[in-house]
Amino acid sequence: MPNHLLQLEGLSDERLTQLLDAAAAYLPAARGQGQVPAALAGRLVAQMFFEDSTRTRLSFEAAAARLGARSMSLQGAGSSASKGETFLDTALNVDALGVDAMVVRTSISGGPALLARHVRCAVINAGDGRREHPTQGLLDCLTIREAFGRFNGIHVGIVGDIANSRVARSAIHALTTLGASVHLIGPPTLLPGCFAGVARRAESVHITHDLDAILDRLDVIMMLRVQLERSAGGGIAADYREHYGLTHQRAQRLPSHCIVMHPGPVNRGVEVDDDVADDVRRSQILRQVTHGVAVRMAVLQESMPR
Ligand code: CP
Repeated sequence: MPNHLLQLEGLSDERLTQLLDAAAAYLPAARGQGQVPAALAGRLVAQMFFEDSTRTRLSFEAAAARLGARSMSLQGAGSSASKGETFLDTALNVDALGVDAMVVRTSISGGPALLARHVRCAVINAGDGRREHPTQGLLDCLTIREAFGRFNGIHVGIVGDIANSRVARSAIHALTTLGASVHLIGPPTLLPGCFAGVARRAESVHITHDLDAILDRLDVIMMLRVQLERSAGGGIAADYREHYGLTHQRAQRLPSHCIVMHPGPVNRGVEVDDDVADDVRRSQILRQVTHGVAVRMAVLQESMPR
């Protein structure tokens, strides 16, 4: 039976820890240091990206290659989706090619879960609409665990466009389950009441609109990309950087041990200043990318049991 990975919501502390432990074992291989057994030799993975991607798509391809699997790539543009073939029909046809797993990124919230009910192969969610981005959530957790060795007592600030962010949702579910405290920080337009219904279920989630007031309490500051493509005409305030950007001045007010994270791609000069993004002492941004390969190796391997 294939093991799908559709979301982090609902996964137990033990399950998340098991995935992080498996990913941690792959870190040397993800860094290009040493080889691992070709556990997925002979397996075929369809990389199906109906939305743009650099990190997720290439890291899934890297992860598959490092484990000996072969990848086939399908992108929305250039596929028969442009002729009107539905999302489900596309997936059924790819499944009929005999793939062992499909990695799916789509603007349709719940799209990967829909496919999992209809296809024979494993389905791995590579980001669905505003809903979840589970492998991003896992790589974020792995990055924090590598930096601090624990989650209990760690205060993680997630800053910015929370309402539109599947990255934030997956991180919130995983981090609170693992024992971290999460502070959601953003303007009321990007952190509206409708989101609080999700967030407030967890006692360890706190909501504030005042970034400056909380900077000195954070161990981790995770800056989200301002998603202009999902802003639905609401507009992004011109003074976003002034109130919510991690500027050089704000970074100086963070505790010395606080790490800076960002899922990428970075809007430099909007949510993060150049010198903060490039500060090798604090910034984990490129380390997150490497951790993403390790996480995706672990997820791919366990999605296709022998
Ligand atoms: N973090 C992330 O999902 O980046 P991509 O959109 O480049 O895959």
